[in-house]
Amino acid sequence: MCTTNTSSSNQNNIFKDLVAHAQAYGFIYPSSEIYDGLQAIYDYGPYGVALKRNIQSFWWQSMTQLQQNIVGIDAAIIMHPTTWKASGHLDGFRDPMVDNKDSQKRYRVDLLIEAHATQLAAQSKAVEAKELVEAMETCLQAADLLGLDKLIQAFKITCPVAKTANWTPVRQFNLMFSTQSGAQNDATTIYLRPETAQGIFVNFLNVQKTARMKIPFGIAQIGKAFRNEIVARQFTFRMREFEQMEMQFFIQPGTEKEWFNYWQKTRLRWYTVLGIPDQKINIHPHKQLAHYAAAAIDIEYDFPFGFKEVEGIHSRTDFDLSNHEKYAKKKMQYFDADAQKHYIPYVIETSAGLDRLVLMVLSNAFIQEGKVATGGAAEPKNRTLLKLPPPLAPIKAAIFPLLKKDGMEEKALAIFDLLKYDFPLVYESNQSIGKRYARQDLIGTPYCITVDHQTLEDETVTIRERDSMVQYRMVIYKVAHLLHETTSIKSLLVQL
Ligand code: GAP
Repeated sequence: MCTTNTSSSNQNNIFKDLVAHAQAYGFIYPSSEIYDGLQAIYDYGPYGVALKRNIQSFWWQSMTQLQQNIVGIDAAIIMHPTTWKASGHLDGFRDPMVDNKDSQKRYRVDLLIEAHATQLAAQSKAVEAKELVEAMETCLQAADLLGLDKLIQAFKITCPVAKTANWTPVRQFNLMFSTQSGAQNDATTIYLRPETAQGIFVNFLNVQKTARMKIPFGIAQIGKAFRNEIVARQFTFRMREFEQMEMQFFIQPGTEKEWFNYWQKTRLRWYTVLGIPDQKINIHPHKQLAHYAAAAIDIEYDFPFGFKEVEGIHSRTDFDLSNHEKYAKKKMQYFDADAQKHYIPYVIETSAGLDRLVLMVLSNAFIQEGKVATGGAAEPKNRTLLKLPPPLAPIKAAIFPLLKKDGMEEKALAIFDLLKYDFPLVYESNQSIGKRYARQDLIGTPYCITVDHQTLEDETVTIRERDSMVQYRMVIYKVAHLLHETTSIKSLLVQL
């Protein structure tokens, strides 16, 4: 028991350090920080945006470039409001919430009850805690709001802020953000999309016809999605504005099991190539399915706060296309020339959260070493570093003149100019070489390239590797080849 507590408090500390690191070294900042931030909204800094774009490129290229039968689109965030009626989000995309009248705070009921159950378990009332969670799950599955009310009362659950049980009745709240479009007296209510998938469904026939796609085929998209999450926790894990990378794969009805398995296997391989160890990935089959799904699994990563979903794979049947056909009164049928029949295709969806993948990659790369370095006299004894896979690293190499004299700066700048068209680099000439290495370790730069006296004589530079801290000399003309081989997205793609 004691060990578990200690290790979970260690994990908490590691997570706190990671969040502080992400902010201090230019990866992720709270949004509008000068106004004290905005809950569950974040901005990406110079290294964060580069890391995010590299993950994005790996996903996009693996989907659209390596697969002959998948093409991409970029649909608008704002869609015709009937889209959300047809997709079921207007009626089904909601969570039971309750307000405390004294503190004026709103809570998601499942999280409020779960927090109470955790408290009970900590007070050695594990049986009571289990009963509470089971009763809650029964109520949630039956959408029994009155039952949830009764549970809150029976267990005397109080507001964490007001410490009172002065609750409103439990109500369903839709998670979509709405706004008005058009002149005030003639305005229409429109919604910010809660998933990118619908932009793909409504364009299904446009893409199929104009790109001359034959089933089975897929449409991929990367873009922002918005959800009015009431409880924002764990940094960028649960955001109100976030980015999804979704792919809808259109198939013949009856082949959904085969394709569901295919996409599970294909997506798991992507995580392995990304450098995530097998033991840190879990497959979680869904018992409680979203309103559109006939089968679903989550791919979970072992974050410092436990295994949590980073991607969902859903078997969506013809739910979305059939509903769009009904509401838009436009045929969504596909003519299968091989089978000589018309049908509405079934869909297997892969849906990854880009921000969660950034957090996963950072969590996996964040290392706090306490050991003595072996690589050179000027190396730090304790170091914190990001062991990012080199193709994901924001900066591929840092170029240093050892000293600011004897032409070393000019030579280092010439190397920078030679390589800058192909690779994101930094040039740094201030501070000791050890401090310059340490700075690059903190942002995950895989190589530091130093120009010294010997460079001026024989055209070789010192290459220092981030993870091993090993140093070796290399002729300048070979450096571009080294960076291409080890830091390009291609070096990941070829492993898929
Ligand atoms: N189109 C299907 C769909 O949207 P989902 O499981 O609700 O399915 C897919 O979301 C992925 O989007 C999740 O696996 C997660 O990575 C990401 N995601 C969902 N809500 C999020 C939030 N509030 N903040 C950050 N990422 C989120």
